[in-house]
Amino acid sequence: MNLRLDKYLADFTELTRSQAKKEIREGRVQVNGEPAKTGNDKVAFSDSILWDGREIRGQQYQYIMLNKPAGIISSTADDRDETVVEYIKKHSPVGMDSVPEHDRKSVFLAKDLFPVGRLDKDTEGLLILTNDGELAHRLLSPRHHVAKKYFVRLDKDLNTTDVDKMREGLDIGEKRLTSPAALEILAPREALLTITEGKFHQVKRMFAKLGKNVIYLKRTEMGTLTLDESLAVGEWRVLTEEEIQNLINIM
Ligand code: URA
Repeated sequence: MNLRLDKYLADFTELTRSQAKKEIREGRVQVNGEPAKTGNDKVAFSDSILWDGREIRGQQYQYIMLNKPAGIISSTADDRDETVVEYIKKHSPVGMDSVPEHDRKSVFLAKDLFPVGRLDKDTEGLLILTNDGELAHRLLSPRHHVAKKYFVRLDKDLNTTDVDKMREGLDIGEKRLTSPAALEILAPREALLTITEGKFHQVKRMFAKLGKNVIYLKRTEMGTLTLDESLAVGEWRVLTEEEIQNLINIM
């Protein structure tokens, strides 16, 4: 795929399109070792592009794993609350703080990143951010039944009847009962719940139906992707090639 050089720079650096054009005109941008002439030049992701001697590595698609902290919301823009997209733009990926800026591979985040699905403001854990609309669509489409696993802490004790009810399906006010969900009790008030749907507040509504309130919720898995345990709450990193391929291969 070929992109205009000014767009490439605007997408993968902090430059605006007009600033990028100016940088190009002033000879500060090189493509494959040659000074670029105009922003109209077409470049490919395989080209070597230097801006002021710094390599600008554009990727068509970016994939990020965030261990979402409570208090931020899963959208791209909001008038009141900080969004996950604003959050990752403010915080360097884990392990990068000690790396000199010009050596960081993923400092420039794509401008069109969005979260794949939603976690509530008070929910923590695994959230994927990407600009790959097709992958997001496939992961979220109800037809694909992608499994999502949550760690839950409750205000009341669980029992084995709860396991049966989760498996059989619950009436949470939707057209149909919830699809079979796997409840694994870890402690009297702690469990893992795996669901294959993504209705609004689904986990909280399912437990409410069993007469319990969720007091802490954290997503630990989505499809083939497991939350990296070395990521503290609030930390993020880019997905590995293997993680990306596994997600792409789900369907
Ligand atoms: N279910 C919920 O109730 N909340 C979430 O954030 C995710 C799933």
